[in-house]
Parts: sequence; structure tokens; C-alpha cells
Amino acid sequence: MSIVILDFGSQFTRLITRRLRELGAYSVILPGNAALERIMQENPQGIIFSGGPSSVYDVGAPRPVSGVLELSVPILGVCYGMQFLAHEAGGAVARAGRREYGKAELSSYSGELFKGIEGEFIAWMSHSDSVTALPAGYEVVATTVDTPVTAIENRALRRYGVQFHPEVVHTPKGGQMLENFLEICTVKRDWNPQHIVTELLESVKTQVGTGRVLLGISGGVDSSTLALLLAKAVGDQLTAVFIDHGLLRLGERAQVEAALGPLGVNVVSVDASSEFLGALEGISDPEQKRKIIGREFIRAFEREARVHGPFEFLAQGTLYPDVIESAGGEGAANIKSHHNVGGLPDDLKFKLVEPFRTLFKDEVREIAALLGLPEAIRMRHPFPGPGLAIRILGDITLEKIDILQRVDDIFISALREFDLYHMVAQALAILTPMRSVGVMGDERTYHYTVALRAVTSADFMTAEWARLPYEFLETVSSRIVNHVHEVSRVVYDITGKPPATIEWE
Ligand code: XMP
Repeated sequence: MSIVILDFGSQFTRLITRRLRELGAYSVILPGNAALERIMQENPQGIIFSGGPSSVYDVGAPRPVSGVLELSVPILGVCYGMQFLAHEAGGAVARAGRREYGKAELSSYSGELFKGIEGEFIAWMSHSDSVTALPAGYEVVATTVDTPVTAIENRALRRYGVQFHPEVVHTPKGGQMLENFLEICTVKRDWNPQHIVTELLESVKTQVGTGRVLLGISGGVDSSTLALLLAKAVGDQLTAVFIDHGLLRLGERAQVEAALGPLGVNVVSVDASSEFLGALEGISDPEQKRKIIGREFIRAFEREARVHGPFEFLAQGTLYPDVIESAGGEGAANIKSHHNVGGLPDDLKFKLVEPFRTLFKDEVREIAALLGLPEAIRMRHPFPGPGLAIRILGDITLEKIDILQRVDDIFISALREFDLYHMVAQALAILTPMRSVGVMGDERTYHYTVALRAVTSADFMTAEWARLPYEFLETVSSRIVNHVHEVSRVVYDITGKPPATIEWE
């Protein structure tokens, strides 16, 4: 039992599955022109036609195969999907006078999809075409000022269409509409993260068979969760390589080993710090630092692949948003920055295993909880691949790394202690090259200035500086100067992004 979503190319299609999953319903996305047999394999209780960039009048406009419209299950068309439904049933679709994009308020609404919804209804629009003449059997059930035909239904046939996107957060009551559609479909609502785990385990086993899998782990939630999943699916066939570039936070390597080892992950951790730090000696330019770290990472990873290989598969924690961003769709390998092994030589060609390609970050976190990943890693703030290298302004030395590790540890531990860690999206300490005068006892000092930065952010594309309590900042500041003698001044960064970035380099 499922809802089948036929994908006509909208960037929001995956969000529909996500919303349905949140509502406990199982759904699958199939290509818009999927064969009828393939659709029937899923035993659909309902079908959703997604949006898409085409116009129904375009030559070669996407359409479902014949037979789909004759199925007796309820059908919901979203945006292009609605225009297609209307057009096929004999209605007219025309290019609207102007493109409607953004939020619009419904001036009236009624009908089965809107059951139980009251008050203001804000809908997210993104379309140029509109339905201009209703097909027989349909009625208009919602309108906006710009779009008289905003939602339609044919109750007898159980066909529904909405011009807006109920699946996006900008349509706050869209979830209720999708829930109403599920009710109409009488679909079972027992889908949960445990099902996702079971399904992922099955698909990894099928793909990998008896092959050996190589995975680079960074200590972040995605690669750690992937390591647990793969270990569960294929046990010792997995080798998880953790490369310590010497720019991690205090105790981080031990933390990752302690979290994954006991859960059955075959972790190979490699201290490559002397190579990385050697290559970084005297380098102050941020982009050069990143390039060198990327290059050294590939070198070290490649060496470990040979030492522990051969491997048939390379696993990556690619998430659905990465897939959307790379716009590669199926089969396109999008290799993320820190695990950028795109430059590996030909004799190390791997097949990719990317079980999280259809998931969002919070779904990965849910899976992580089910697989037993400790909370400290599961709910961790992001940490950049180049690590502390881009938080030490100017050139990098062992002494500076040591100072910053201790400062960072005091800051992050205090955030946890004061229950503020999860109130911010990311927190970091920066070691500036600036020294300033201080007094310690009777002595004049001339030590480093460190900056603390904490931000709130939904997506890290924009961020606000976190309004941390003064008492907290005071405690952290005095702990830092008391325990880290190389530091004589602590400042707090009160710049938003934009114009500043989150990292200082
Ligand atoms: P910015 O500094 O661009 O950071 O506002 C946005 C988010 O990206 C992280 N970041 C990086 N992550 N390699 C990474 O893996 C990098 O070179 C890098 N630079 C920034 C940053 O920590 C923040 O979460």
C-alpha cells in the first residue's frame, strides 16, 4: 500500500514524500512516464502528479503512460500536475498574464481537500500557466486574486488539483491538505523511521552483495550514521577510514572511535597530522589552506584505500538536498567537499553506495537514533572539513592549534553545561593573530585575542548572531583567560550573515 508520486520534474517533488512520511504514509517517487506495471507493483492507494517546469502545450510535455488516468484511485495534481489533469479532461490551460511567484492568500476555499481547515490560508505559488476553463465534472474550490482557478475537484472521480505547492513550508496549512488526501485514499498510516532503516538495509545488502566497501568518516552525523548502517548491513565488508588531519577539536578522534567501534564499525583511524601540518607550514591564505587540505586528504585516503583494499564500492553520505543542488538526478555522482575523492586515480574506480540520497538531514538524525549513535555526535553542530585550519587566522602552528583546541573546548563544554548548545546552530572559537596588552596579577601580558561566534540559522545560508546571555559570556570569557594563559582577550562576534560568513576564513 502506498502513494505513488509521478515526478514531472519539480524541485519540490521529494518534499511531497517527506510530508507524507511525516504523516506516516509510505510513498514512492517514480518517473512521470513510469510503466503502468511498475506503478501497479507499488499497489497504489492514491497517485500524485507532481509539478514541473513544462507547459501542457509543449511538444513532448511529460505525461503519465496511458491507463494511469483510468485507474480508479484518487489522484492529486500539483501545479503542472493540476494543469495536466484539467487539460486531459477537456479544460483549457493558458499562460497567465504574469508569472505568479511567492505567497498568495486564498480569497475563498472549500471542498474535500480543505476539510477542517479554517481561517487565513497562505499558499506558495510558482507558476506561469493557469487553468482558464474548467473541464466537465470539475468545480473550482479555491481562488486567489490573481488565479481564479487555484484548486479544483471532481468529487465523483476523486480527482483533485491545486495550483500551489502544499508540500512546502511556505504553505503552512498544506500538511492538513495532504492529510485530507490521505484520508480520501484510505491509506494506512504506519510508516516510520524503522521502516526506512529496514528498507535501507535491504537495498544496501542487495547492491553490495559480497563486495567490500570503503567509507571516509569525518565524525559528523551523516558519515557516522552511514558507517553504522553499512556495518549493520554488511558487517566487516565495510572499512571506515577516519583521517585525523591534526586540525580536529580536542579529543574528537577518540570520541569518534569510542562511538563507532563498539557498535561494530570496522574503523581504521589514521594520524596523518604531520603530513597535513607539514604541507600547511607558512600558509596563511584561506583558499590555499583549503586546497592543500583537500589534496592531502585525497592522498591519505588513497593510500589507505590501497593498504586496506581492494574495494569495489565507495560509500558516501550524500543527502537529498545535495542531489537537488547538483541537479544531477539519478546516477550523477556528487562528491562532497571534505570527502572529495573525485581526484582518485583510475585504478581506484569505485561503484558508489549512497543510501541517503533520498533523505533529509533530520531523517538521517532519526535513523541515527534508531541505530544507537550517541547523542553527542547525532546532534552535533556542523564542523567544516578543513577543521581548525580556517579558524586560525594566518599561518598554522602546533602551538596555535593547541591554544584553539583548549579555547574551543571551554566554549563548547560551557554551552552544553548551560543548556545552550542546542539553542544555537553552530558555535566556534577563532584564534586571531592579534595580540593585545593585558594584566595578570602584577604582570603586564601581551597575548592572543580569541573571538567567539555563535549563530542561529535554519540553513547556514543566512545566519544571525546568537543572543547568548551576558552571564554565560562572562563565565566563558573568564574561564578562557584563566585556563589558557596564551590568551589575554576574548571578544564576541556580533555580525550576521550576510554580510559576514559564519567561519572567519
Ligand atoms: P560560511 O563560513 O560560508 O559557512 O558562512 C557556512 C557553513 O559551511 C561550513 N563551511 C565549510 N564546511 N568545508 C566544509 O566542509 C569548508 O571549507 C567550509 N567552509 C565553511 C561552515 O562551518 C558553516 O557550517
